[in-house]
This record gives sequence, C-alpha cells and structure tokens, in this order.
Amino acid sequence: MRTKVAIIGSGPSGLLLGQLLTEAGIDNLILDRVGKEYILGRVRAGVLEEGTVGLLGKAKSDSRLLSDGLPHDGFSLAFDGRDHRIDLFGLAGGKRVMVYGQTELTRDLMDRRELAGAKTIYEAGNVTPCDFDRSTPYVTYQKDRTTHRIDCDFIAGCDGFHGASRKAVSERSMQTFEKVYPFGWLGILAETPPVSHELIYANHPLGFALCSMRSASRSRYYIQCPLDEKVADWSDDRFWDELRRRLPDHHAEAVVTAPSFEKSIAPLRSFVAEPMRFGRLFLAGDAAHIVPPTGAKGLNLAASDVHYLFSGLIEFYTDRSSAGIDDYSARALSRVWKAVRFSWWMTTIMHRFPDTSDFDQKIQEAELDYLTHSRAASTALAENYVGLPY
Ligand code: APR
Ligand code: PHB
Repeated sequence: MRTKVAIIGSGPSGLLLGQLLTEAGIDNLILDRVGKEYILGRVRAGVLEEGTVGLLGKAKSDSRLLSDGLPHDGFSLAFDGRDHRIDLFGLAGGKRVMVYGQTELTRDLMDRRELAGAKTIYEAGNVTPCDFDRSTPYVTYQKDRTTHRIDCDFIAGCDGFHGASRKAVSERSMQTFEKVYPFGWLGILAETPPVSHELIYANHPLGFALCSMRSASRSRYYIQCPLDEKVADWSDDRFWDELRRRLPDHHAEAVVTAPSFEKSIAPLRSFVAEPMRFGRLFLAGDAAHIVPPTGAKGLNLAASDVHYLFSGLIEFYTDRSSAGIDDYSARALSRVWKAVRFSWWMTTIMHRFPDTSDFDQKIQEAELDYLTHSRAASTALAENYVGLPY
C-alpha cells in the first residue's frame, strides 16, 4: 500500500491534518491502535481559539461547531470570596473563544473524513514508523494476524504523549523538557445547567476549582486534588460539597447538582520534545508536547502544529519547495513554548501548592491582585487565553 502522508493517530491532530490534506487533494491515511468508539469515549476539554475554529472551517468540519458551540467573551477568576471578570473581547481586540467539547470536534472530523472517503485503519497493532531518516519512509502495522507495510513520502506522528512516534526517535536526536505538578484535577460531568454562563477559575485556600460546561444543560467541574487521591473515595455528594466550599458564596448557592456520569482524576504536567521533525517524520500535538489544562491550550496547540505542518506539506507538493517543512519545528516550537509558559503561569497563580512558603503564598496573592487591577496585566492574560497569533 502507498500514500503521500501516513498519519499515526486519529485524535484531533491526526484527524485535522488528514482532513486538511484530503480537502487539498493530497492522499493520506490514518492509523490508530484503538477503535473509533474508544476514541469518541474520551472526555476532553473544549475551549477553542479562533485559529482552531478557522482551521475546522478550512477542513469543512465546523457546521455543528458553529451551530452548537458556545461563544465566550470572558471568564472569571474567583478568589477571596469575589469574582473578577476577564473581558476577553474587550481586552484582546474583539477576540473570543468557543466552548465545544473535544469529543464532538473529533466526531465531526471523523464524519467528514468518512464522507470524503479517506481511509482510516483502526485497531492497527504495533504501528512503527520506519526509515524516516531517508527519503523513502514507511510504516508497518499488524492487523488480522498479518504485518502490513505502507510506503509514503512523510509520516505525521499524531499519536499523543504515549504514542510510538516520539519513542521511535533515538534519544540522542531529541531533547525533552518536563515539569510535573504536585497535584491533579478531579473532574466530573453531570447533566445539569452550568453555575454560570462563563467559566470560573477559582483559587481557594482548600485548592483550585473550575466551573466549565459542555452545553447549556451539561456541566463540567474540576477540583484540585492530591496526586494519591482515589476516584472511588469521592461520592458525588462529597464532590459537590468540596466544590461549593471553593467557590464564592453566590456561586456556591447557585450550583445545581445532579448525578455525575463521568468522574476521573488527571495529573498535570508540562512537557516539550525538541525538535518536532526528524527527517520525514513530523511530531504534532500531544506527541510533541503536553500542557496542564489550566490554560485550555492542549487542543489549540495541536491545531497550530497542524496548521504549520499542513502549510509546509502544501508547499512541498505544490511548489516542490521544502522550505515550509524545514521550518516546521522552529515555527511550531516558538508558539508551543509561549503556550507552555502561559499554561505554567496560570497553573502557578491559581493552584495551592503543598508546602508552599508564606512568602510564595503572598507573592501569589499579589500576582492575583495586580492581575485583576491592572489593564496591562489582564490584557496579557486575555491575549494568551484567546490564543497568540500563528
Ligand atoms: N499506534 C497508533 N495509534 C496510537 C498509538 C500507537 N502506538 N498511540 C496512541 N495512538 C492514538 C491514540 O489511540 C489516539 O487516538 O493516537 C491518538 C492520539 O490522540 P490524542 O492523545 O488526543 O492526541 P492529539 O490528537 O495530539 O490531541 C491533543 O487531545 O489529549 C488531548 O489535551 C489534549 O486536547 C489535546 C488533544
Ligand atoms: C473543560 O471544560 O474541560 C475545561 C475548560 C477550561 C480549561 C480546562 C478544562 O482551562
């Protein structure tokens, strides 16, 4: 079998790249180690920057997003019992974000891909990128007790943090950077109206809390928890009580509870692998970098990586120029590191760190005070939250 671009991973990165290539008439094939329903069963955040929305439009996969997505012009920071609204639209030059579940975005891209007749091989075992340091790379995989080979021009490693692509690169060819945070997020989903029409990020002595949503009838809530916390120890009642404790009174009283239908704990880490290109293999999305969810940047960084990679591939196939693919890693990493910084900063000012010193706690409080009383400081927050330019 042969294709122009072999894409490993059918998450948002792989699907968006595949759809853009298909729309541009560039043959591609996606392989994933699991099945479609498993992928759609994942619960992930969905705060989309305008650049991400635009790319989904270019991929002709935005109709449900535009009809069901929730445009957000701002969000609130809550601390010391009060709300402080960050006016994204006013501070970030009329930009806003769109709240739309990543699962729905993935479903839209999958549906569009099937409509276009582009090929995806699910439940592909032991997917292995080969000879990507030569001009004739290929990918092997196992399925139906047979080893298959796909010859290609390029391989896009869109297989996430635990994927095979980054691991196929020799350690001496790559430098990684990592920071693991000393807490996690316990999150629930419940069919109940969100406590507010906008997101609320709360910093409370008991810990961080986030009030988010998937729709006007489906809420997504998180509370910071120790890394050794067990989901089984958290009944719904315990969760709701702890969430209320961490919110200002007027929000705590307004929380409408309902049985959770999803409850999980996620660790928080920052991770970057450099470079993001190895010969004919390109890493994109979580395969190359991870951010704590505080800044809602994970999905949006996957989108900007795909934008840069797609642009380079188009240049190669249209103008036979390798300038774009040669520049991919530097361009992508420049935006990645600024989003990694923002996500780290937002995590640092909104969470309570175990064994933090009294001095560091006072610094955090001063940071929040400055942030919510300085137009310059809140403008910097707003322009990062809506997404820096590509
Ligand atoms: N072989 C084939 N497929 C693999 C392999 C492998 N060895 N390892 C992982 N995969 C697949 C996974 O099954 C998954 O469907 O690659 C896909 C990776 O998808 P994501 O982990 O969602 O990564 P990405 O597409 O980059 O999307 C990043 O997802 O995790 C969130 O917060 C993150 O919003 C961000 C977005
Ligand atoms: C979510 O809705 O899951 C969500 C929203 C914003 C974040 C993180 C998660 O910063």
